[in-house]
Amino acid sequence: MPSETSKLYLEHLLASSLSELKLTSHLDRSPDITVPDQRFGDYATNVSLILAKKLKVAPPEVAQKISEAVQKIDAKKVFAEVTVAGGFINFRLSQEYLSGNLNKILEQGDLFGCSITGQGKSVVVEYFQNNVAKPPHVGHLRSAVIGDCLLRILKSQGFKAVSDTHIGDWGTQFGILIWAYKHLEGDKIVASHPADYITALNRLYVDANTMIENKEELREQAKQEFAKLEKGDTENRRLWQKFVDLSLGDFERYRQLLEVLPFGHNMGESFYEDKMPGVLSDLKLKGLLVESQGAQIVDLEDKKLGVAVLVKSDGATTYLLRDLATVKYRLGEMHISKALYVVDNRQSHHFDQVFEISARAGYITDPAAVQHVDFGFMSLPEGAISTRKGTTVSLQNLFDEAEKRALKIIEAKNPELENKNAVARLVALAAIKYFDLSHNRKTEIVFTWDKALSFEGNTGPYLQYTHARIHGILRKAAGNRQQGTGSREQAIEPAPLSLMPHELGVLRKLNQYSEVLQQVAQDYLPNQLCNYLFELSQAFNSFYQEVPVLQEKDEALRSFRLRLITATAQVIKNGLYLLGIEAPEEM
Ligand code: ARG
Repeated sequence: MPSETSKLYLEHLLASSLSELKLTSHLDRSPDITVPDQRFGDYATNVSLILAKKLKVAPPEVAQKISEAVQKIDAKKVFAEVTVAGGFINFRLSQEYLSGNLNKILEQGDLFGCSITGQGKSVVVEYFQNNVAKPPHVGHLRSAVIGDCLLRILKSQGFKAVSDTHIGDWGTQFGILIWAYKHLEGDKIVASHPADYITALNRLYVDANTMIENKEELREQAKQEFAKLEKGDTENRRLWQKFVDLSLGDFERYRQLLEVLPFGHNMGESFYEDKMPGVLSDLKLKGLLVESQGAQIVDLEDKKLGVAVLVKSDGATTYLLRDLATVKYRLGEMHISKALYVVDNRQSHHFDQVFEISARAGYITDPAAVQHVDFGFMSLPEGAISTRKGTTVSLQNLFDEAEKRALKIIEAKNPELENKNAVARLVALAAIKYFDLSHNRKTEIVFTWDKALSFEGNTGPYLQYTHARIHGILRKAAGNRQQGTGSREQAIEPAPLSLMPHELGVLRKLNQYSEVLQQVAQDYLPNQLCNYLFELSQAFNSFYQEVPVLQEKDEALRSFRLRLITATAQVIKNGLYLLGIEAPEEM
């Protein structure tokens, strides 16, 4: 087939047909290609509705002409049926095409689904932007899980994708922390908390904050500490570096716990420190920078985005200014085509301001070059994981609890399983990550153990279980073969001439995989992949309920069905990998 997915092929096919019929110039917008109810076919298009309106003729009349042209050009018969239904044209993929795709899955194995769609485009995916000397909160957990998934998917689609944690390692808070460390026996406190020195450092900061709240002179001292840090004072630099190093060690521990891919960059906010003056002079040159009550601001009132403060009246630079320097650096020096910011939706206004000023400054010419991949709040169960204030979580506790619960379920379901603890860990991770990813990221979600760990429904454990179940069937089939029944399911052979609806249902679903990945690489919505994998698992389960596989006497049929379920397991495994979830073969 000339193009990567059947949908793309159809797009080309339609374009050629319209050009053949000299209709292209009558289109005033590009037609939709949608996936209709299975009864109608694999794809449907509204192109004849658009044209009929323009040409002032009845839609079925145009539809009929287009459908004839399509069938003439589709020489290889990728589509077995092209039918006109009212104003719509429906397309049904042929069995030959669908079984060709099955062979492709078996041939390509773990690489099935990869494409070169993104070739030549470089993307920075920024996520897990932890703050130095502060324990991560739930928002950071979500950012890590969503960002890791997007990175994997972009890479699979041929984008040159690189991750950056953009850690929070700069700002006036470091003046307070340094002051606290010096005055409140920081060394002693860190040394006496080897396991949770970050929490200890954070407490030091919180205590200092309360102390200086009402004491002008102490506040002034803390400010001076930051000023000294900015000027390169050796002692303050040393302390700051110590906080950064301690924190990076801690973040790495979380990364391993979460099993997210290693990060490409840790270019924190401090990296942009010496790049801020350049931004200020760019803005000044463009006449965008205004002085207001001693502060330097950009007025965005005309866009209803308020006022953006870049330098405060005391001379301190802001988070916003560092973000402007970051946009300039990424798009300018790194030559990135697109920067994604996986950050919770409380910062939407901030990014609106950053992107607007960047556009005015000329750092961004294409508005699509930067995107805030925002997500809503996830509330976690009270107790096990949140501190009393409910703002910070110990991820370790969350995972320990998930593992304990997963182990219990596995012990009940499969007491014979050998490596129960290792599997329980994979199920626990799947439960947490999938719960996060399966909800549209923009929504606020409430985590519950029962839902996340359920072996039924749209959950990570259910998909893992379906995958393991297929491997169980394949193990049985292999066992039977050793006993002499003989089977050739791995050899590529033509599919049976007429397939049953349940077989076709699975084949069709398998064919949609590559299209779903391309969609996620466009909208950055991992829940689309989750939904797809869930539907594929459902299609498999109803197939397996209705159609004999191991019991099938006809050897060619049995072999075809074994290949069908092998491919299903492969696609579930590949899809789960892109979600950052492992698929054990037994559980
Ligand atoms: N460290 C920040 C926080 O925890 C998030 C940083 C988001 N990224 C950015 N480029 N501003 O709130």
